[in-house]
Amino acid sequence: MKAAIYTSYGEPEVVNLVEVPKPTPQDHEIVVKVNAATVTSGDWRMRAGVPFAIRIYNGLFKLKRTVLGHEFSGVVDRVGAQVTQFKVGDPVFGTTGEGAGAHAEFVAVPANGIVALKPDAIPDEKAAALPVGALTALYFLRQADVKKGQNVLIYGASGSVGTYAVQLAKHFGAEVTAVCSGANVEWVRSLGAGKVIDYQKEDFTKQKDSYDVVFDAVGKASFTKSRNALKRRGIYLTVAMDLNLIFQSILTSLTKRYNLISAVSKPTLDDFRVIIDLAEQGSLSPVIDRTYRLSEIQQAHRHAETGHKKGNLVLLP
Ligand SMILES: NC(=O)c1ccc[n+]([C@@H]2O[C@H](COP(=O)([O-])OP(=O)(O)OC[C@H]3O[C@@H](n4cnc5c(N)ncnc54)[C@H](OP(=O)(O)O)[C@@H]3O)[C@@H](O)[C@H]2O)c1
Repeated sequence: MKAAIYTSYGEPEVVNLVEVPKPTPQDHEIVVKVNAATVTSGDWRMRAGVPFAIRIYNGLFKLKRTVLGHEFSGVVDRVGAQVTQFKVGDPVFGTTGEGAGAHAEFVAVPANGIVALKPDAIPDEKAAALPVGALTALYFLRQADVKKGQNVLIYGASGSVGTYAVQLAKHFGAEVTAVCSGANVEWVRSLGAGKVIDYQKEDFTKQKDSYDVVFDAVGKASFTKSRNALKRRGIYLTVAMDLNLIFQSILTSLTKRYNLISAVSKPTLDDFRVIIDLAEQGSLSPVIDRTYRLSEIQQAHRHAETGHKKGNLVLLP
């Protein structure tokens, strides 16, 4: 089969299509013929080895994972001896888990991971773009227990996590304010935001005591500034993680003036079922910026790395 392989960190050119053996399922795995995958911000960061912590995770010298791609939609091609959940021919979608590998014609994934039957009404391109961004947004909004009547601000509302966060916060009944650049204002409004702020024209951190929750879905807002916009005991959520945030989070837990939550999301199959239900009901829809062929993997990486994709980039075989 063809797979997009990289064996060293670097520019998009380190990723190349190579002919490799098709994966054989372990006892608890299924092998999926990939009909669609995505190139996420996590994929380009793992390719580039940025930040440095990624190199500790994926190997300083010899890479542990050489095929990227963390979410997929496709058809079960083979099942391991112990698999009871799926059979050959089932349409499935989900995340690969830590193993990655969806930037290939076939991927092996644990059958008991974040994988489910794909509803007929959701085409492969959309199904592939749902799991990572939507599960991350759901995880963070749940940390803050976002609910009806709250004022919630989503910073970075035009990215993958941001587009899902706007839709989910709206679904939970919150009054949603989205922050994005001017070019994205109108379509981000159509996701359900009551108000959209163009960050190039207006600084939301100047609004004193306005929000119950501020979710930095792109990791580019500063907590020190953003907290001005939080109400007393308001919650600041961020997808970013660094030592400074850990220190500030300890400080805020002592003063109790605000709550700062910086974490790595922990997706569950139950949450994935919630996401699937919402997608089937039409309350959650993936935003797809562009579709690339697997043979265009370097262009897709380059696009993702700009940090300005709109929602998701889909990869077709
Ligand atoms: N902690 C976790 O568990 C977890 C899980 C998944 C992802 N992440 C991290 O979450 C981050 C977001 O992921 P993603 O896939 O959603 O990113 P993404 O899709 O690459 O984000 C792109 C969007 O960010 C917006 N943006 C760029 N600079 C901005 C700025 N200064 N202010 C406001 N918006 C800005 C862009 O809008 P404009 O073009 O309008 O600027 C663009 O639409 C990544 O850093 C990823 O590594 C963390």
